Amino acid sequence: MKKIRVHRLCLLFLLLGTTLRVVPAEASGKQTRDRDRFVAKLMQRMTLEEKVGQLCQCAGGGDLTGPNNERIPRTEPVVKGEIGSMLNILGLDSVRKYQQAAMQSRLQIPLIFGLDVIHGYRIGFPLPLAEAASFDLKMIEESARWAATEAAAEGCNWTFAPMVDVSWDARWGRVMEGAGEDPYYGARVAAARVHGFQGEDLAAENTIMACVKHFAGYGAPIAGKDYNSVDMSLGHFANFYMPPYKAAVEAGAATVMTAFNDLNNIPCTANEFLLRRLLKERWGFDGFVVSDMNAVSEMLAHRYAADGADAAAKALNAGLDMEMVTLNYHTHLSDLIRKGVVKEAVLDEAVRRILNKKYELGLFADPYRYCNEARAAATLRSAAMRDAARRMAERSMVLLENHNAALPLSPQVRRVALIGQLAKTQSDMLGSWSLWSDHEGVVTLYDALLKRGVEVNYSPGYDFDKNVIIDLEGAMAQAAKSDVVVVALGERSLESGERCSKADITIAAEQQKLVEELRKSGKPVIVLLMCGRPVIFNQVRHSASAILCTWWLGCEAGTALCNVLWGDYNPSAKLPMTFPAQIGQVPLYYQFKSTGRPQSPEGWTTSYIDTSYEPAYPFGYGLSYTRFAYSELAVSEGDGEGVHARVAVTVTNTGTRAGEEVVQLYVRDEVASITRPVKELRGFEKINLQAGESRRVSFDITDAQLGFYDNALNYVVEKGDFTLLVGTSSRDLQQVAFRLK
Ligand code: BGC
Repeated sequence: MKKIRVHRLCLLFLLLGTTLRVVPAEASGKQTRDRDRFVAKLMQRMTLEEKVGQLCQCAGGGDLTGPNNERIPRTEPVVKGEIGSMLNILGLDSVRKYQQAAMQSRLQIPLIFGLDVIHGYRIGFPLPLAEAASFDLKMIEESARWAATEAAAEGCNWTFAPMVDVSWDARWGRVMEGAGEDPYYGARVAAARVHGFQGEDLAAENTIMACVKHFAGYGAPIAGKDYNSVDMSLGHFANFYMPPYKAAVEAGAATVMTAFNDLNNIPCTANEFLLRRLLKERWGFDGFVVSDMNAVSEMLAHRYAADGADAAAKALNAGLDMEMVTLNYHTHLSDLIRKGVVKEAVLDEAVRRILNKKYELGLFADPYRYCNEARAAATLRSAAMRDAARRMAERSMVLLENHNAALPLSPQVRRVALIGQLAKTQSDMLGSWSLWSDHEGVVTLYDALLKRGVEVNYSPGYDFDKNVIIDLEGAMAQAAKSDVVVVALGERSLESGERCSKADITIAAEQQKLVEELRKSGKPVIVLLMCGRPVIFNQVRHSASAILCTWWLGCEAGTALCNVLWGDYNPSAKLPMTFPAQIGQVPLYYQFKSTGRPQSPEGWTTSYIDTSYEPAYPFGYGLSYTRFAYSELAVSEGDGEGVHARVAVTVTNTGTRAGEEVVQLYVRDEVASITRPVKELRGFEKINLQAGESRRVSFDITDAQLGFYDNALNYVVEKGDFTLLVGTSSRDLQQVAFRLK
């Protein structure tokens, strides 16, 4: 085995810099020159304090997270030019109030307004993890664009999204906000979300700045505890955690947020390797970096900074351009510069980066560009947006079990026993991180069933606060007079999200017992699994007639659920995270490394003596109401110009109804200069097939499919043997050998 292509990253960027770095259209050519001239002239007029002011972001009302939130007096510092951006200012009146204050400042530099617009804005869309399950990049991009369109119409020009943190640990409650466990897929979703939020022009009416977070490695906290330390080798980081951040930057993300955690023993907020060497120098990132909330002050608790001044100096020197909420830059930077602890050139670079983005947002041309009542009235809560939320919700549900074709329900099913509070609570449908979404107008399953005109026999079933089954008799009576039993079980929506790490992700035994009881009715029992993360539910897995993982689906949850239950939409989603069978298996993921004692049921291998290492449901898994057969897998020659080979497979819909399938390509490097995973997703295509229809699906095998990062962070592609695996999930695959000569 010989290395044939060693791309030193820096060289790659020198050579390909312009093609790799996608610069937003409005910031190219003449406009970039205009911007640079404008910003340079403005900076000549700025005092030291005014420059520092641009680096400070303070919070308005809304929910503040974390301990020790410091607040500063209202508009007065804005008038003094001491603030560059605000977060959590909601609505046109408030935004206008602060922007007017900025216009009273000496140099009239406009503020940027940031909000966590995570999955929809007023109109709630499915959780990001749920959307990721769709494997529909177009819809994911569309969803982000709708959120941007609404938010931009109501004063916001910056979202703290997308979260692109890869995570292998379902105990970590924030998995709901990302795209799951796979770096390749995570990178594709990250790019789609950035394009969705930002489009081609930051100043357009339907776009806002994206903020890629949390840089870096936030999804790998030790023991799954939010905010905990992260410890991994550079090679591990590069191959498994880095790709989505890099893809988001290449997609043109305007801003990046640092993570709370440390990486390689340095808090990310002052991690020079991450912020300067990797992000700004190697990747050529031309936007600005903001801290996470309070993260600069938190470096004291990390015992990495002695006091606020030390924290400010360390952060700015490392490349952190803007401080969120805490006031260390505000209080100490001017002094630090006067004393020479931080060079003014370092400050200037940060100021320039921030002013550049204000220019690109069009704020210097019109500071009130995002404040227009007529536009807000015409844009918010549109029917088209609701329709998109419903379509996205339908595409997000994963069919996990379907015994004896229990689903879809036949049109004759007119009486439904609906059991479980989650089927009826509007706020739960929106899921975590839906701070700005309308609760009224959320369609629950209960509402949607009534609207469909079926008889709904409801019973709450289970009390989440007391963890007991309630009114079992009532539930059984409802089942007795119905054609089918639909049980909503899982977690409450606020059990996932930030700070919601769990030591056990098993669904409460009492809830699972409820399903057992309901089975005694003799009616088909359909389980709707409502959750923000992979959960464990072994008691129910084999006894329910069908199980649909619905996550949290947003404002059109109920309508979408009805459409899937009755087969108006045929489920097509696949799991973006492995569902473990036992809590002790976590972190569990499909692309584990090849070890010297590969896992097998034999002893003395990488396995357990007390339980199986198999997941309940693997990554990429998801059923349909139809079936797909894979045949004629073959590999053929490439074109000699970057395509090394093509692998093709015939996919046939062998069922009786149309359906969509996510055809997945995995690659295994048979021998490499570092240890590599047993397989890695490196391609997928979602196709729609009529009953009986076949299609040949092919994938190009290029460097992007075959390479990896070595321990020095160089992307390498090595000659030798590979196995290409194609199929319907990370577990169900056919394979063919390929040699790169
Ligand atoms: C979260 C960020 C979020 C920020 C602002 C923090 O607690 O970690 O993801 O963007 O708050 O709300």
